[in-house]
This record gives sequence, structure tokens and C-alpha cells, in this order.
Amino acid sequence: MAEQEWRGWQGHALIVGTGGLGTALAEALTARAPGLTLWTAGRRGAGPRHLPLDLEEDASLERFAILAAERLAPLRMVICTAGLLHDGNLQPEKRLSQVRRPHLERSFAVNAWGPLLLAQAIEPLLPRDAPTHFASLSARVGSIGDNRLGGWYAYRAAKAAQNQLLTTLALEWRRRLPQACVTLLHPGTTATALSAPFRGSVPPGTLFTPKQAAQQLLTVLAGQTPERSGAFLAWDGEAIPW
Ligand SMILES: NC(=O)c1ccc[n+]([C@@H]2O[C@H](COP(=O)([O-])OP(=O)(O)OC[C@H]3O[C@@H](n4cnc5c(N)ncnc54)[C@H](OP(=O)(O)O)[C@@H]3O)[C@@H](O)[C@H]2O)c1
Repeated sequence: MAEQEWRGWQGHALIVGTGGLGTALAEALTARAPGLTLWTAGRRGAGPRHLPLDLEEDASLERFAILAAERLAPLRMVICTAGLLHDGNLQPEKRLSQVRRPHLERSFAVNAWGPLLLAQAIEPLLPRDAPTHFASLSARVGSIGDNRLGGWYAYRAAKAAQNQLLTTLALEWRRRLPQACVTLLHPGTTATALSAPFRGSVPPGTLFTPKQAAQQLLTVLAGQTPERSGAFLAWDGEAIPW
């Protein structure tokens, strides 16, 4: 089983984003992949194994790439948990009249371009001769085939764009880094700051704690192999339509 293989994995792991799911994933991964040295990156966070990173700023990405190159090779596992649904007066749209260009641009900067530019920054650190994971948190609402409710224009579209960008990355790495596995993950609705304003409609008993969600996501990731690179999977391992 792939999960047991992590016990023998040596090198570095990186969690980007230190929000609800990022923090829980960092804790869970430390226990499940004890041979990997765990690093975090993001706008908030401190300590000797935290690198500053703002995915909306090219200069920050460049500084991050330099620091990562000095410290994080070989990089065996990356999980990007950065995401943006609401922030101040940026709120998910209920109707067309609420759509704003700056909100679309910010949502795409974090939810779509962010994970791809992160992949570009860390690509030189991925070993060619050992399996690696590059996972990123997407969302079921990014599925075009599964969109039955409408609304949330910017977030839905940016997650759909992330799915396309990372599918394209998976195809490129299949040729250039055949041991790399790219996975898009839907965590299920989880009690974090991101979901806090929208939990009223969540049926009782279906809201995950970050700890639960992190364990479930790592179990799904453990089942992923390079042959399955490019999958879009829910917390229970189910494939989500594009
Ligand atoms: N919670 C859910 O129900 C749910 C459902 C489906 C999908 N997801 C996805 O799961 C992921 C994790 O979300 P969460 O629930 O853990 O929410 P969260 O607690 O709000 O965490 C979001 C993280 O994204 C980071 N981020 C935002 N903008 C950034 C930027 N410019 N540069 C770097 N980092 C940035 C935040 O950093 P700061 O701490 O600096 O703000 C924070 O660490 C997101 O991609 C989200 O879309 C969540």
C-alpha cells in the first residue's frame, strides 16, 4: 500500500497555506510520513521551517523559489492548501450584478494561477529518480459537469481553471518527471474560516473537522500513483466529473 511506502520516504515535504486545512494536514503528515522534513509556506506563519510566500506577488514567489532551492531538495511531497472564497468586501456572488473584475482577478490569482506558479517554483527540487506528490486543494464547486446551483462565479471558475492548469501540468510531467503524481483534491465541507459564513446550508453531520478532513485527504493521496496523475478526487476517493 502506498501509504506504508511514505514511512520509508526521505527528503522534504511542503504544505502551502497555514489556514484550517493546511495546519491540520501539516500535523497529520508529520505522523504519516516521519522520514520527511516538513516545511510550511504562506503569508502567515513563523519558525525555522516556514518560508514566506504570497501567491499573489511575483516578487514573493521569486524569493520563495530561491529559499526553497537552498533548503528543500529533494522535495517529495507538496500540498497546496491556499484558497480564497471571501475576504472583506470580496464575497461570493449570488447573481451576475455582483460580479466585479478585481474580485475575479484576485480569485484567479490565488485559486488558479497560484498552484501553477507554485509548481513552477518548486519543479527544480523534484527528484527524477523517486516518486513525488504534488497535490492541490480544489473544490467540487469547480466542477462544470456538477454545477447545478449556480452562483459563486469567481470561485467556481477559478477552481475550474486550476483543474485545467494542473491537468495540463500532469501531462507535461508524465513526459518530463514520470515519477511525479499530480492530484486535485476536494476536502468536503470542513469547519475552517473559509466555510464559516456558509455553513447554514450544510446538512447536520456532514461538516468535517480539519483533523478528519486531513486524515481523509492523506488516505486518498496515499492511493495515488504516477499512473493516476491528473485525477480530481473527493475526500472519499470518488472521482469528480470535470
Ligand atoms: N473548508 C472547506 O469547506 C473547503 C471546501 C472545498 C475546498 N476547500 C479548499 O481547501 C483549501 C484550504 O481552505 P481552508 O478551508 O483551510 O481555508 P482557510 O483556513 O481560509 O485557508 C486558506 C489558506 O489560503 C491562504 N491564502 C489565501 N490567499 C493567499 C495568498 N495570496 N498567498 C498565500 N496563501 C494564501 C490563506 O493564507 P492566510 O492565512 O495568510 O490568509 C490560508 O492559509 C482552499 O483551497 C479551499 O478553496 C475548502
